[in-house]
Amino acid sequence: MSEKFIPIGRALSLESDEKHVSFRCWVHRKRGQKELIFLILRDSTGQIQAIIKKDSDAWKEAEKITIESSCEVTGKVKQDSRAPTGYELQVSKLKIIGLSEAFPIQKDFSEEYLRKVRHLWVRSTKLVPIFKVRSKIFEAIREFYTQKGYYEIQSPSFTKSASEGGSTLFKVDYFGQSAYLTQSWQLYAEALMFGLEKIYCIAPSFRAEKSRTRRHLAEYWHHEMETAWMEFDELLKFEEELITFIVEYILQHCEKELKELGRDTSDLKKIKAPFIRMKYKEALKRLGKSWGYDLTDEDERKLVADLGAPVFLTHFPRDMKAFYMKVDPHDKKVVLAGDLLIPGVGETTGGSERISDEKELKESLKLFKLKTKDYDWYMDLRKYGSVPHSGFGLGVERLVMWLTGTEHIMDTIPFPRTADRLEP
Ligand code: 4AD
Repeated sequence: MSEKFIPIGRALSLESDEKHVSFRCWVHRKRGQKELIFLILRDSTGQIQAIIKKDSDAWKEAEKITIESSCEVTGKVKQDSRAPTGYELQVSKLKIIGLSEAFPIQKDFSEEYLRKVRHLWVRSTKLVPIFKVRSKIFEAIREFYTQKGYYEIQSPSFTKSASEGGSTLFKVDYFGQSAYLTQSWQLYAEALMFGLEKIYCIAPSFRAEKSRTRRHLAEYWHHEMETAWMEFDELLKFEEELITFIVEYILQHCEKELKELGRDTSDLKKIKAPFIRMKYKEALKRLGKSWGYDLTDEDERKLVADLGAPVFLTHFPRDMKAFYMKVDPHDKKVVLAGDLLIPGVGETTGGSERISDEKELKESLKLFKLKTKDYDWYMDLRKYGSVPHSGFGLGVERLVMWLTGTEHIMDTIPFPRTADRLEP
C-alpha cells in the first residue's frame, strides 16, 4: 500500500467531513451481520468504528480478520453520532498484516489470570491510559527540574552497603563477592552533590519486601533529589512545589486518559501548597498510640482520609528512621525527616536533612550498629568541605496510583515484580 498512514486520534479531530484516510491499527472488537461487518479499530491514539459492506473489496479480508489482528485500512471518515467514538470509517481497503489466533483474554478476567498473561494484557484499554499518565508523570518530573536548573544524574544499581536498612536488601553474587541491588541512590547522590549541587534521578530501586500489600513492589521507580545548602523546611516546600506541579501538569495533559479511567478529578483540582504538616507525636495523639509506635499503612491512610488532603508527617523518633538523618537540634529525640502521605495511598515520599558533621555521623553509625568500614567513602564526604544538605525519594508508582485512582500498585507498572511474581 502506498497510502500515508495517520493516527486514529488525528482522524477524530479532522475538521472536514468525509476525509479519505489510512490507518495502521489493531482490531479491538468485531461484530457481523449478513451484509455488514463492524470493527472497532484501535491504535495508541484512539479508537474508531469501521464498517465494511458486503459489496466492498474489503469484505473478504473483513470476514477473515479476528480480534487483535493487525491491519492496514483505508476509507472515508464520517461523523456519526451512533458510533461509539462519534466517528465512523467506511472501509474501502483492508489488508491483514498479522492475523491473530484466538485471543486468550476473552472470558477469564480474574486478577490472577490477567497477571499471568500480562504480556498480552499490557495492550488493554484498562492499562494503556494508566501507562500514558505514568509517562506524563516522568515528563512532568523532568520538566520541573529542568525549569529549576537541576542536573539529572545516575548512580550504580550494584552496591556494597545498605542505605535504607538491611531487612529489605536483595543480595546478589557479584563475581564471587556479595553485593546488593540498590535501595536508593542517596549515598552516591551525596557525593555527586559536591560538584553539581542540585541533582535528581529517576531510576529503579529494589526492596526485598516480603509483605504483600497493595502499595509495595520489589522493583519500583524511584525519583530522588539531593540539594546542597538546603535545610529541612526548604525541603518540604520544595516537595510540595513538585507535587503541585505534577498534579497541574497531569490535569492539563491527561484529561482524556483520566476520563477513560473514570477518575473524578475534583480532589486533584483542590491540591494547593502549603500542605498540612504534622509531627509524629501529634499523629500518635490522633491515633491514640504511645511513643515508639510504628504507623501502619492503614494508620497513614486513615490520617490523610480524616484530613482530606496530603500531609507531611515529620519529626520521627531517631531509631525508627535511617542512620543518615540529622537530629533536630531543638529536640534530640527526633530527626529532621518528613514523609508525605497522600490520600488513598499513604506514604509517597520520604526525605530528610542529612547529617553533615563527621563526628555526628560516626556516632549515628554506631547507634545503628553499622560497621564504619562499610561506609568509609561516605564518611569522607564529611571531611572535605561538608555542607548542610537535604533530599528525598518519591515512589513513582504510588504517585501513579493516586493520580489515576488505581487500587493496586501492580497495575501502575507494566511488568510488576513482587515476592510472588517474576514472570512475564
Ligand atoms: O522512604 P524511603 O525508603 O527513602 C529512601 O530511600 C531515601 N533514601 C530517599 C531519599 O531521601 N533520597 O523510600 C522513598 C519512597 C517512599 O516514600 C515510597 O514512596 C517509595 O520510595 N517506596 C516504595 N514504592 C514501592 N514499593 C516499595 N517497596 C517501596 N519502598 C519505598
